[in-house]
Amino acid sequence: MKIRKVVLPVAGWGTRSLPASKVIPKEMLPVYNKPVIQYVVEEAVRAGVSEVVFVTNRHKSVVEDHFDRNIELEDMLARAGKFDYLKAVQEAGSMVEVMAVRQKEQLGLGHAVGCAATLVQEDFFAVMVGDDFIVGDDAGLVQLVQAVEKYNKPAIGVMEVPADKIDKYGMVAGEEIEEGVFRISDMVEKPAVGSFDSRLAIVGRYVLPRDIFRYISCVKPGKGGEIQLTDAMRDYMLEKGMLAVKMKGRRFDAGDWVDYLSAGIYFGLKDEKLAGPLREAVAKLIG
Ligand code: UTP
Repeated sequence: MKIRKVVLPVAGWGTRSLPASKVIPKEMLPVYNKPVIQYVVEEAVRAGVSEVVFVTNRHKSVVEDHFDRNIELEDMLARAGKFDYLKAVQEAGSMVEVMAVRQKEQLGLGHAVGCAATLVQEDFFAVMVGDDFIVGDDAGLVQLVQAVEKYNKPAIGVMEVPADKIDKYGMVAGEEIEEGVFRISDMVEKPAVGSFDSRLAIVGRYVLPRDIFRYISCVKPGKGGEIQLTDAMRDYMLEKGMLAVKMKGRRFDAGDWVDYLSAGIYFGLKDEKLAGPLREAVAKLIG
């Protein structure tokens, strides 16, 4: 099964990233030489996605602009013979078809996904959280697409977290039906430490059925007074079943400063021109 479309909510406040995110959306903060959101969209493209629906607000239109062409800039770079930069700029402007819809009030992740309902006609579509990114060629959304293809059931990306961190995540429990694939039996948003047995945390990757919009429109405000996607998925799961897939690869949460700073170093070290001097500079700082 091909998943063509991803809904990408980027309308949150980004409070944990303040003051950096006061004017610049946290999804646009750079990790080495690209904004966070580009890594997320690249992961979607690796999974076969070609259309992105950004759920934005009135301060976030730069997110769409990043994936549009910038003809004046391209002309200048071509005239100046700066072809490496030209290629990078053109790549960002041509990787996906972009659509956008506004979330007029920040009422939660479930509500944000619900705002995209009229733009999704496909039986299954992906949802990715715009500040969470997973690296590794066969890791992330592509694993969910494979699971949905095999079992014809919606699937959620999960990773194991320490028992004392479960109150930071949507958590799922279930029976393992194949290595790393679980039939979900329970799902709770940010349970209190000690109140939920499983350590499988939801990490911002989903392949959902279009029917989920009906469930979202029925859920009442949950944890933190927000319309929670986890609550809508739980209702769906209890009636029709859902899978969780353990994500391979490495995950960075751009809203967490340790992860964000580590991601910059991780991608800097991947660039062979930068790796040597960067390693020396970091060693000096640590020393
Ligand atoms: P987060 O809770 O991680 O993002 O929501 P946040 O609210 O922006 O950040 P903090 O916690 O205040 O630092 C997960 C994703 O859901 C989006 C966010 O933009 C983020 O990508 N979101 C959240 C919305 O689009 N709308 C909302 O009402 C809430």
